[in-house]
Amino acid sequence: MFFYKNNELYVEDVKVSDIALEYKTPIYIYSKNHFENQYKKLDQKITRKHLICFALKANSNLAVINTFAKLGAGADVVSAGEIFRAKKAGIDTTKIVFSGVGKTQEEIKYAIENNILMFNVESFEELEEIENVASSLGKIAQISFRVNPNVDPKTHPYISTGLKKNKFGISYTQIIDAYKLANQMKHVRIKGIQFHIGSQLTDVSPFFEAQLKVANIMKELLSLGIKLDIIDIGGGLGVVYENEQEPDLDQYSNFINQAFKDFPDSLIVLEPGRFLVANGGIFVTKVLYRKQNEGKNFYIVDGAMNDLIRPSLYDAYHKIEPVVKKNVAKVQADIVGPVCESGDFFAKSREIDNLERNDLVSIFSSGAYGFTMASNYNSRCRPAEVLVDKDTVKVVRSRETFEDLIRGEAI
Ligand code: LLP
Repeated sequence: MFFYKNNELYVEDVKVSDIALEYKTPIYIYSKNHFENQYKKLDQKITRKHLICFALKANSNLAVINTFAKLGAGADVVSAGEIFRAKKAGIDTTKIVFSGVGKTQEEIKYAIENNILMFNVESFEELEEIENVASSLGKIAQISFRVNPNVDPKTHPYISTGLKKNKFGISYTQIIDAYKLANQMKHVRIKGIQFHIGSQLTDVSPFFEAQLKVANIMKELLSLGIKLDIIDIGGGLGVVYENEQEPDLDQYSNFINQAFKDFPDSLIVLEPGRFLVANGGIFVTKVLYRKQNEGKNFYIVDGAMNDLIRPSLYDAYHKIEPVVKKNVAKVQADIVGPVCESGDFFAKSREIDNLERNDLVSIFSSGAYGFTMASNYNSRCRPAEVLVDKDTVKVVRSRETFEDLIRGEAI
């Protein structure tokens, strides 16, 4: 948890300013307690038999994955690299679901060898590839199909995935044929059905719309003699970044119960990413310089778009506050990084305390799609990540060095 006490920002029992002093900036700071609480909250609200598969793409630090592994979580992965991480972090591979439109032959092989729970298959050609790879290994691959239900999630266009114009899944009109085809294959076993309509949904009703469509598909399949053990309802639960309404988990759970009441024995798989980790992380950066251009204020900080790209990429809002509040007047300023692009900003025309050089600021809600989307653009070393558990601070990824920057390169 992150909170202010006597105008100082704390993460659990530790002052954020102490962490920044010791481990320098820019830095990602995570609260283990928040991660665990979010997991338990969701786990308790879903009343049906279920498995929570943490979407690793949101935050794939080994210590973060391990926190969920210990609570019994599986993983939703989108690459062989994520399977590797999941294993290293202690996730039971039989609890891994593999999503993504472009799984390579090598990735399919690696996944089968690791006995994952299932592939969420996104095209007819991918199905064929899985059948071929499984056959060459003399194994049976478990699959579900990702259906594109053509439902509007009413979220940012870059993160909506369940509309027919999106590249994801197999269309509603072709899905039955896909199951018929798979049913005849020797090396695939049909396990379930999956959908994921988008991310950062705070209104859960679009989920229900998709769930009803999926239940209809399941009824049609049953009439063809195809029974599904698993209903994977994807991720997408939103969080509060600014002043959004938190998703209503009771309603979410009720919708699941209602939509799938005719399939009481099927296991519900959930693939939450953001919901579990977004507000369990902050990104702390230091003011390097201030300047005014034509009356416009700029705070230039030591973090940049390469560290946290969400504002630049999606125009995403992240709350920004000083780590130590000094009760000074507010100003309007752009908070920008050192990268050589005008798109390198964390906030524009933001009302914020009048900051001085070396002041620390916290960029909140950075636990999801923060470090995982970081790059080395401008040959900047990626920041350190620390995980706080009550009064214990652990560096769970050290700050990169110059040597890290050139690893594998040659002249
Ligand atoms: N399952 C599938 C198949 C997905 O594609 C995603 C996210 C998730 C689960 C997890 O969704 P979540 O529960 O986190 O909403 N970089 C963007 C978000 C991209 C999400 C992509 N897919 C951002 O920073 O907002």
